[in-house]
Amino acid sequence: GDRKISIAIDGPAGAGKSTIAKIISKKLGILYLDTGAMYRAVALKAINENIDTLDKEKLSKLVENIDIEIVYANDEQKIFLDGKDVSSLIRTPEVSIGASNVATIPDVRIKMVELQRKIASENSVVMDGRDIGSYVLPDAEVKIFLNADVRERAKRRYLEEKAKNTKDITFEEVLKDIEYRDKNDSSRSFAPLTKALDAIEVDTTNMSVDEVVNTILGHVKNYG
Ligand code: CDP
Ligand code: CDP
Repeated sequence: GDRKISIAIDGPAGAGKSTIAKIISKKLGILYLDTGAMYRAVALKAINENIDTLDKEKLSKLVENIDIEIVYANDEQKIFLDGKDVSSLIRTPEVSIGASNVATIPDVRIKMVELQRKIASENSVVMDGRDIGSYVLPDAEVKIFLNADVRERAKRRYLEEKAKNTKDITFEEVLKDIEYRDKNDSSRSFAPLTKALDAIEVDTTNMSVDEVVNTILGHVKNYG
């Protein structure tokens, strides 16, 4: 269509946000923005500089001049940190926890949200994260809150890790990582993980990817 549309997809780790958001963006021919990658990039920079990912003062300073760029190539989002492609480097368990830590710091969020809003003001987007419907894009035309039982979410992540076959990680370790982030992300005071009042909640525990995609596309069709 000719009208700009913003679709917000929020929810906890392993609910299926990025999988579903990517498919929706392709079907609708609009941009996909993975906002989690931005918090991951901040965490990676802190880790590289030996800064504690919970150090408010140092993180506030670190994001003042951080250079994060989102680049689209062959239908893929690539993220550049200070001129370097870090798209793969940010997908480690250490960076996951670090991202959840830096994401509690208001100055970090303010800086990332600025970039997210700029992209959404210039393009139709499907954006996934924790606070997109509740804080970043309160006027998004469609807001979805994806959820699933924590053990099911951990199982999905565990299967992904096994498929990558890089490092051995146990189901219990994945579960612990997810439980830590669920708690950290939901309990922070600034823009926590929460379902926006006007978001549609979809419990994907017993749903296939196709079923979730079709459910969301149904809501997109209703719009306008
Ligand atoms: O982005 P988020 O952390 O919410 O989840 P993800 O990275 O998309 O990972 C979800 C995993 O569960 C992927 O491997 C999907 O193939 C799988 N899955 C899903 O996303 N949705 C379902 N209804 C069932 C499985
Ligand atoms: O893909 P997964 O669900 O494992 O995590 P992610 O979306 O890459 O996000 C990593 C971390 O960044 C989350 O645990 C949140 O703490 C934080 N985050 C956030 O606070 N707000 C967002 N809009 C996106 C991510």
